[in-house]
Formats: sequence, C-alpha cells, structure tokens
Amino acid sequence: MNRLELIKKYIEYFKSKEHKEIPNSSLVPENDPTVLFTTAGMHPLVPFLAGEKHPLGKRLVNVQKCIRTVDIEEVGDSFHHTFFEMLGNWSLGDYWKEGAIKMTFEFHTKVLKIPIERYAVTCFAGNKEVSKDEESKKVWLSLGIPEERISLFKDNWWGPAGLTGPCGPDTEMFYWTPNDIPAPKKYNSKDNRWVEIGNNVLLEYNKTKEGKLVPLKQKNIDFGGGVERTLTVLNGLNDDYMSEVFLPLIKKIEELSKKSYKGNEKEMRIVADHVKASVFIIANGVTPSNTERGYVLRRLIRRAVRYGKVLNLQDFITKLIQPVLEIYKDYKELEKNKEKIFSELKEEEKRFNSTLENGLRTFNKIAKDKKEISGKESFLLYQSYGFPLEMIEEECKNNNVKFSKNEFKKELLKHQELSKTASAGKFKSGLLDNSTQTTRLHTATHLLNEALRQVLKRKDIVQKGSNITPERLRFDFSFERKLTDEEKKEVENWINDKIQKNFPVKREEMTLKKAVEEGAQSEFGTKYPEIVSVYTVYDENSKKVVSKEICTGPHVKKTGELGNFKIIKEEASSAGIRRIKAILE
Ligand code: ALA
Repeated sequence: MNRLELIKKYIEYFKSKEHKEIPNSSLVPENDPTVLFTTAGMHPLVPFLAGEKHPLGKRLVNVQKCIRTVDIEEVGDSFHHTFFEMLGNWSLGDYWKEGAIKMTFEFHTKVLKIPIERYAVTCFAGNKEVSKDEESKKVWLSLGIPEERISLFKDNWWGPAGLTGPCGPDTEMFYWTPNDIPAPKKYNSKDNRWVEIGNNVLLEYNKTKEGKLVPLKQKNIDFGGGVERTLTVLNGLNDDYMSEVFLPLIKKIEELSKKSYKGNEKEMRIVADHVKASVFIIANGVTPSNTERGYVLRRLIRRAVRYGKVLNLQDFITKLIQPVLEIYKDYKELEKNKEKIFSELKEEEKRFNSTLENGLRTFNKIAKDKKEISGKESFLLYQSYGFPLEMIEEECKNNNVKFSKNEFKKELLKHQELSKTASAGKFKSGLLDNSTQTTRLHTATHLLNEALRQVLKRKDIVQKGSNITPERLRFDFSFERKLTDEEKKEVENWINDKIQKNFPVKREEMTLKKAVEEGAQSEFGTKYPEIVSVYTVYDENSKKVVSKEICTGPHVKKTGELGNFKIIKEEASSAGIRRIKAILE
C-alpha cells in the first residue's frame, strides 16, 4: 500500500462513519499560543474540544502535517521524526470509548487487514487523580483481544501539548513488526519490535496553569496515527526510512556521499528527516532566525549540515529539496515556494559553514599542546559552534586528544534542565486559561482588519497573517508604506468607536461559496472547508455590517467587552506587507 492509498482509505472509512473532513492546517498554529508548531491534529481544534461549536459538526477526520522537536535527539532511530503526518479522527462530545475503539479496530483489521495475532493494546492503569480505565479494556476484550495482549500502564496519558490545555488517558495500539517471528503472547513495552500505530486519546480534562485537572464541558475522542509508521509496517518493513516517504532522500544521500545506508543509518536518517522538516517549515512561512520558530528551523538545518559533514557531504542541502518535492507532490505549498526554500536553505548552510570554521579554529586553540579536552570545552564546541558529538570525537581522534563522552553528557544534561525551565516559563500561558483575553483580541483583530480598509480607503488590503497571545495581537496586511501617525490614530479611533457602540457579534454557519458571495473576508492563501462559520459585527442602528469574516472563532458576544484599543507598533514585515501589534487596555 502506498501513502496516498493509506490516507484515502482512512479518510473514506471515517467519512462512511459520518465524519467530515477538515483541512490539513498550517504548521504554524493559529490562535494557539501554547505551542510553536502544530504538533498534533488536535491543535486547530482546541476551542472545539472545550465546547465551542464546530461548523462541520461533532465528527471530524483529516490527515495533518506535524512538527515535533522535543525528541530531536531521538531522531536517528527507525521510527522517530521531526516532521510527520498524522491520521486523525475526532469526536467532539459525540461517540466515546466504545465507538472510538470499535472504529479504530475495524479500520485496522478490516480495512488495513492487520491480523489480530500481530495486534496488542494498552490502557490507562489509573493514578491518584484519575481512575483505571476498565471501560476501554472491556471493549477490547469484547472485540477478541486476549487479556495478555491488553496491558495497563500509568503513562497511558496524552497531553496537554503545551503546559496547559486538553488532555486525558489514552488507549494505544501496537503492531508486531517481525515477519518471521510470531508475536509473543504478551505485549512488552520495552521491546521496540512492537510499534505504536495508533492512539485514542480520551480528552476529558483541561490542565490549568496551576496543574489541576478540570473536566472539560464534553468528553472528546482524539485519535492519532502516524502515516509513516503505519505505511512501514503494512509493507512488511521495519524501518520508516526504507518506506516511500524517505527512500528517495536516502538514495540521494547515498549517491552524494558515495556511502551506503548500511553502517551510516543514524547520520543519513538525521539528514533526511531534518531536511524534510526544514523544507515544510519554510514552505509554511518561517525563515531561520535566533528566536522561536525561526530558531527551531535554524537548529534543524544546522544539525542536518553537521551530520552531513560526518558523511563527508559539502554544500549539499539544496540538492535534497527535489526528492522531498517528489515524495509530497500533493502538497502544493512546496512547489509554490520552491525558490524561497532553495534560497533560505542555501543561505543558512553558508552561514553555518563559516561558524563551523570558527569552531575548528577554537578547537585547535583548545587542543593545542593538550592531551585532553574538558566536558565544558567539548560542550562549548557543541553549543556555540554546532559541532555534533560525532564530529568532536572525530576531531579529537585525529589530533590524539582525549575526550570523555561522560563529561560531555553531564554538561549537556545541565543545559537541558536549564532550557526546560526556560520553556516552561515561556509556555505558561495556554489558550484555555487565557481564553477571555485571546477572545477579546481575536475580535479586535477583525475590527482592525476592517478599520485599515476604511481609514486608508483601500478595498484591496487583505490579511496576510495573524498571531494572538494573551498579551497582544499581531496582524499582517498587504500595504506598501508606513502608516502616518494620523492614520494610526484614525484606525484606533475607528475601532474604539465601534467598541463604545457595543455592537453584537453574530456567528452563522454557511457554505464557503455563500460566505464569499456575501463579501466575508478570508485570509489569503488559507484553505477552507466547504462549510464555514462567519462572524459579523453588526450595527443595529444603521442596519449595516461593520465587519464580516470567515473564522473559526471564538469571539466576544458584544464589542463593548473589548476595552480600549491601542496600536503599539507598526512596521514592515516583508516586501509589500506591514505588521501591526496592538493591545487592549
Ligand atoms: N493527539 C494524540 C497524539 O498526538 C492523538 O498522539
């Protein structure tokens, strides 16, 4: 079975069970300040998991591209990736454990024809706060899964994706990969020949920033299944990198390095994985930088370059773009952004090469007349000059310098603890806990969008991007010059006038076609489903529409809830695009 067949079969199966397909969202999450990237299909659904009504109903399905970089150091084995696609189906307060498990099982065993002899599952064993999941276990037993193949663990728990948000116990499904050895009677979590191919998360709690579990308004199902892994096991393979979603990349790396995959698996996997992730991230509008998403991208590219060096590859990153484009022909954003992907990758590789040269000079200084380098020194090479561990080892060997891996690891651990604490601080504000502030800013964004067109008297101004944190809104729009102080004041006044008049904000569901015909604003370049929700700010006195936008929400009920609107910054974002940051006082 190939990738597109697998995706098609999955979507069709769940459509036949009354699920509606939702779009594959951007890797840059909109309106979820708890994460830098879309790490699971559930992100775009956070408001709906919390009880907001979804325009397409209570049963949804899609395939979602994801980026996960928490386990970046684990990439290099056969089943971990930073970029992957996730099959996802959701019940928003509709079916619960029985319905979810039965459908997943039917999909796995009837549609994908996975033999039950190679199947094992795990359920939640319970802890002080949440009791053992007997119900899921019963459903699995009723489907014919033998008791020994149902294990209960305390860590069968998923989420929240950031520090706060929806979470709950889960029940996971595993596939026994060896073709020549029959599956053992009992599932063993330490035996990595059992590969996880699916996870039904029972999203019934919201974790607050105080760390408390509060029941959500409704019980939701959040299924996730890795496309890469599923594809691998269905094709009788035991390494994702040998499947069609990686093989062309691995082949190209073999050709360029004149080395074979066998014996160089780790390095080749890292290069292939990171280049693929970088290509997608750039296609979704991020460029390398020293902060947030840009920094993650920079790290991925640089890690790919340095592992490439271990394989003796030079100036090679851009040569790996084409295989990615060929594997993912169905992602139009890749072809469309091809030139940008090329120039960003080329530039970043060049920049990094000069950093590495400086690093080598530093290494030579450190190693001169020495028999040994310390943990701190090797960590400096790793951290500041981007040397991979393998390169440090190699340089030391070539120069007859002793190097202790243990000392290096101690320094690395110290650093990881520090950065964990730092990111815990950064992500402390989650969407659900700050829903009032973000909701207000969200409605303010709609007013700003309209205010710009009105004040600047330009109907052609369109939204080019938006990002909301509990502190501020950020809005990108097409316009070619700086706004004058008077214009900024006028925009503020226009919005504050609408706030004072306390207009109602109305939500309606309609077809995308009707929404566009009615003149609802939409974000340029966004793919919308067939049925959308439309938010309208309405002036009851003059019976005129103040603002009308296609949007998933949520929004305030009346503009009077917003407070005073104030622009704090207006600047260029890129050619022909301006950026406004604003707050509500
Ligand atoms: N959100 C769940 C996961 O990522 C399904 O595994």
